[in-house]
Amino acid sequence: MTKAEFDEFANTFADAASQNTSFFDSDYGYFGRYRSNIVKRLCGPNVANILDFGCGVGLGIPPLREAFRQCRIVGCDPSQESLALARASAPDCEFMESSAIAPKPQFDVVTAVSVFHHIVPSDRDAALRYCFERLKPGGHLFVFEHNPYNPLTRHLVARCPVDRDAILLKPKETVARFKRAGFDRVAAEYCLFFPKALAFLRPLERSLGWLPLGGQYYVCGIRP
Ligand SMILES: C[S@@+](CC[C@H](N)C(=O)[O-])C[C@H]1O[C@@H](n2cnc3c(N)ncnc32)[C@H](O)[C@@H]1O
Repeated sequence: MTKAEFDEFANTFADAASQNTSFFDSDYGYFGRYRSNIVKRLCGPNVANILDFGCGVGLGIPPLREAFRQCRIVGCDPSQESLALARASAPDCEFMESSAIAPKPQFDVVTAVSVFHHIVPSDRDAALRYCFERLKPGGHLFVFEHNPYNPLTRHLVARCPVDRDAILLKPKETVARFKRAGFDRVAAEYCLFFPKALAFLRPLERSLGWLPLGGQYYVCGIRP
């Protein structure tokens, strides 16, 4: 999808995202908290700088702030309209176009949530390299993506206007691209298995990362 098209979706993105996922959990914040908790569990609480690559309108920023209170949080996105909304909703964070962030090691963590399926396959290695170059040695990249093995996820993607350009990535592709970009200790786990109606089963999620039935998966890698 072009930059202008994401600009067009900026004002409706938050409502569309929460409508599309309400069958799973009516509290959209659940998804951001879930991801931020994974980041905190794997990186510890003392993270000084986070970049949210492809932050969009900033829906993932408040849960990051909740998990990392003293941290510098930067969001980048090609869509100016999205960045303007993100800025208004999180004045204690910084938002800019990707090109404004120098290619030097400066972040402890980079997150990219539902971004890479919007990047054409031929540009994905360069985008991962972009993240790699901005991480400090020992820094973590987390890519959260829709699980193409889950039929319900594929159905939701197929009917979502924002996803009309989506080309989903299998975990195997994402892992291979991480390794090509230079990341070490690359690991993938499926996540988001149980809707709110089955919330009593959510404590089991951490032991099910191998099961390709989660709504999403994430790949984590470390810059050597
Ligand atoms: C589905 S939205 C996800 C936004 C946000 N990460 C979230 O979870 O709410 C995908 C975002 O990826 C951004 N995007 C698309 N291509 C990109 C690229 N090459 N580099 C960085 N961001 C990109 C879009 O502008 C859009 O805001």
